[in-house]
Amino acid sequence: MKLKIAVLPGDGIGPEVVGQALNVVKTVCHKFGHELEYQYAICGAHAIDEVGDPYPEATHQLCLESDAVLYGAVGDPRFDNDPSAKIRPEQGLLAMRKKLGLFANIRPIQTFDSLVHKSPLKEELVRGADFICIRELTGGMYFGEKHEGDDMAYDTNIYTRNEIQRILKVAFEYARQRNRHLTVVDKANVLASSRLWRKVAQEMALQNPDIQTDFMFVDNASMRMIQEPRFFDVMVTENTFGDILTDEGSCITGSMGLLPSASIGTYTSVYEPIHGSWPQAAGKNVANPLATILSAAMMFEYTFGLKDEASEIRKAVDASIVGNVRTGDIQIEGERTYSTSEVGEWICEYINND
Ligand code: IPM
Ligand code: MN
Repeated sequence: MKLKIAVLPGDGIGPEVVGQALNVVKTVCHKFGHELEYQYAICGAHAIDEVGDPYPEATHQLCLESDAVLYGAVGDPRFDNDPSAKIRPEQGLLAMRKKLGLFANIRPIQTFDSLVHKSPLKEELVRGADFICIRELTGGMYFGEKHEGDDMAYDTNIYTRNEIQRILKVAFEYARQRNRHLTVVDKANVLASSRLWRKVAQEMALQNPDIQTDFMFVDNASMRMIQEPRFFDVMVTENTFGDILTDEGSCITGSMGLLPSASIGTYTSVYEPIHGSWPQAAGKNVANPLATILSAAMMFEYTFGLKDEASEIRKAVDASIVGNVRTGDIQIEGERTYSTSEVGEWICEYINND
């Protein structure tokens, strides 16, 4: 098969983790006889520095022409600490999501048995937790009408029936492929937008009787996630709630450096780690590349339907963890920590020899 991908490393540790994931993609393509065509493009803070735009048109065109996008992370403290900055790296990410129509963000929250000791939760609670959060990504407060004055400011949490139906359809499908349990997370006791979500979801639940659908307020869901993470199979929610809940979900597993994500779109799909750009670690070769490598596995599976290739990557990642070839964030006390590139190289070698 011919794979055409755009590579957007972004800022901070982005280039390092994407570099390793790209090596893994090359290794897998070589092993399974696929032809890989890839091209780099700029985004985020360094794109602002270079061309004054965090998601330049040339980058957008490349993404549109590619089957999939491998994305690192964006963000820079220069902008975080300056509320008056007119252009921010994050705006580029949001522009990309909107322009590529990436409405469904799939974030698997998965624990690794060999890492449960790293979780802040008790081992017996977290062992075996494995669910997917499906976050609506192009609507809600992130994109609703805003006003930013000195004495008053607001964001509008707007959702249309079509947007809700579209994301719920994806959620029911995922639930069908898994354990057929869908939890719709909202704040229908307070928010009008959430009441529309619930109404539409209730209608669709009737049309999907094979799926056990339940409803949970977001405050309750945030609690349930740490009290009983195994309760969840597939969770679906709006943009803002999904942003918050997936950060919470990522720490259940022990390290943010482990969780991949896919953003499924109208034009193409974007695969990225859920962690940020961690600027303090940039260039130090210490960041955990596993989340990005696992995002590449999702790319093989979702965009190209290449399940064996995806499994090979996941197998190699598991083997690296079990073999204690780990970066500092997930290493056991007393064991030597491996660098970003050492972990990446180990995984490529494993795939080559498997
Ligand atoms: C995420 C990030 C982004 C978001 C930021 C960087 C704009 O936190 O992908 O979860 O809020 O969506
Ligand atoms: Mn976030």
